[in-house]
Amino acid sequence: MNTPTATAPTAHPAVVSWVDEIADLTAPDSVVWCDGSADEWDRLTTQLVEKGTFVRLERKPNSFWCASDPEDVARVEDRTFICSQFRADAGPTNNWMDPVDMKTMMTEHYRGAMAGRTMYVIAFCMGPLDAAEPKFGVQITDSEYVAVSMQIMTRSGTAVWDRLTTGTAFVKCLHSVGAPLHEGRTDTPWPCDHTKYISHFPEERTIWSYGSGYGGNALLGKKCYALRIASKMAKDEGWLAEHMLILKLTSPEQKVHYIAAAFPSSCGKTNLAMLDPTLDGWTAETIGDDIAWLRFGEDGRLHAVNPEAGFFGVAPGTGLLTNPHAMDTIERGNSIFTNVALTDDGDIWWEGLTGTPPAHLTDWKRRDWTPTSGEPAAHPNSRYCTPIAQCPTVAPEWDDPAGVPLSAIFFGGRRATTIPLVTESLSWRHGVFLAATLSSETTAAATGKVGVVRRDPMAMLPFLGYHVGDYFQHWLDIGEKTSPELLPKIFYVNWFRRGDDDEFLWPGFGENSRILEWALRRIEGTAEAAATPLGHVPTPGALDLTGLKVDPTTIGAALRVDPTEWVTELRLIDELFATIGGNRLPDVLREELAALRQRLAAA
Ligand code: PEP
Ligand code: NA
Ligand code: MN
Repeated sequence: MNTPTATAPTAHPAVVSWVDEIADLTAPDSVVWCDGSADEWDRLTTQLVEKGTFVRLERKPNSFWCASDPEDVARVEDRTFICSQFRADAGPTNNWMDPVDMKTMMTEHYRGAMAGRTMYVIAFCMGPLDAAEPKFGVQITDSEYVAVSMQIMTRSGTAVWDRLTTGTAFVKCLHSVGAPLHEGRTDTPWPCDHTKYISHFPEERTIWSYGSGYGGNALLGKKCYALRIASKMAKDEGWLAEHMLILKLTSPEQKVHYIAAAFPSSCGKTNLAMLDPTLDGWTAETIGDDIAWLRFGEDGRLHAVNPEAGFFGVAPGTGLLTNPHAMDTIERGNSIFTNVALTDDGDIWWEGLTGTPPAHLTDWKRRDWTPTSGEPAAHPNSRYCTPIAQCPTVAPEWDDPAGVPLSAIFFGGRRATTIPLVTESLSWRHGVFLAATLSSETTAAATGKVGVVRRDPMAMLPFLGYHVGDYFQHWLDIGEKTSPELLPKIFYVNWFRRGDDDEFLWPGFGENSRILEWALRRIEGTAEAAATPLGHVPTPGALDLTGLKVDPTTIGAALRVDPTEWVTELRLIDELFATIGGNRLPDVLREELAALRQRLAAA
């Protein structure tokens, strides 16, 4: 093997010695320091085509179809660990293992794991390179798929190496698919191991991932760094790392508002991030679709930055009617499609892309598929990976190191009952209570059962790097750091409520602009609201429903706070609070729950 240091584009001693150490441990055939260039992209994508991982698409420029191992299709929450020094610091919502035990055990998995493969060293930056304190990472991986995906999803390569000078802090991100190619063993299109560990060492700011090549398990800048590790950094440094989209809205009067919105995975964040408003005169521009870092600006307001450079969006359900801007983005090429179906003429397809499926496809399991096959052609968690910069609605501010000042934060889940279409919180602490008790039906974005209602505080349940009770306290503390009128206003939404006939009560998608408009008008003081035990909802007539065919009783049902439904809901919130435990659950949240209980009893 070549000596890794001989070709290193950096003299950063901690990078060089770590790369040496990992090369010794994992025994790759060679080490490649990634420069993030177009040449590198061409070389690696060509290699991926040659080995059968990628199929080059005829119908989209510089784009590729890819199918994963059928066992490696989503984030593995039961294999994800927060290895804080003390178990109590990981909290009741995370799997925990002692950091020394985890490293001892994983070291044996990594030993020789890259045999017969190339080890890639990727320097990346989460957020704009010109940020006051840019957040760097270095990922070691033995996956070409990961190397090219990281080119899309992060700022990476030479520009980052140049800034990663001696002494600069960076997050060590170690990744192996765990499929060594020992003498005589041939590679598979999607190497991975049955055993998987996605481990985080929050105090050390280190990530060790083993056995999976997919999405959030393997592209370590995303969920592992920008949420789990960054949430801990943010707690220590007085900011917030959140599972939120960022959207710019311009009113017919040309007033600009920026909003952020948190929803669990696969609940429409990307669609809302690329909103096509149905309300006349409104414009929406995209800043981020999945992760927001919120810091106070010198103006005392919370500013949001998207740490990513690409979208890793859920494909099924994305089409010209639901998300035309996502369709335009991928049409421009330079994209990787994983676990969608492949058409006979070299294009991609998934359920919801068009009304009628093609007569013949290659499905995500590489089998012949026809409309009578009886199974979806695309995996429900199949994804498109595409650069944000080529989104037709991208706001120029998406790359602004100062971020954008937030007017409002929305929290939402996927709930068939109980949660109203929109509720305005009564205060920051009441908003934190609503967000803390957020709940949603599980989706295909993570392995496990789909459709089960679970509490998902701030939509961060799978992404928190520390104790959830301390996290709630941190949110409350953030609210004390500036004057109340400078804080974004918190709203609670549910696009997914159903009526007695099981039909959705609200059409969603572009029509959600009507809800956002009401919320912004509330902030400007020009919209009417009525009090409910949960908070303020639009009065009949306060929502602009021009051109929308819904009757007022349906809207009434969508906005209703039903005390009988809330009997069950309060019990589930009690259960959440009980698991958090008395010593870590902020008293403020207990008080907010008691106040809600009283308001419901009086209703
Ligand atoms: C992922 O699964 O890799 C991922 C990006 O997370 P999410 O499910 O939130 O989209
Ligand atoms: Na890049
Ligand atoms: Mn997400």
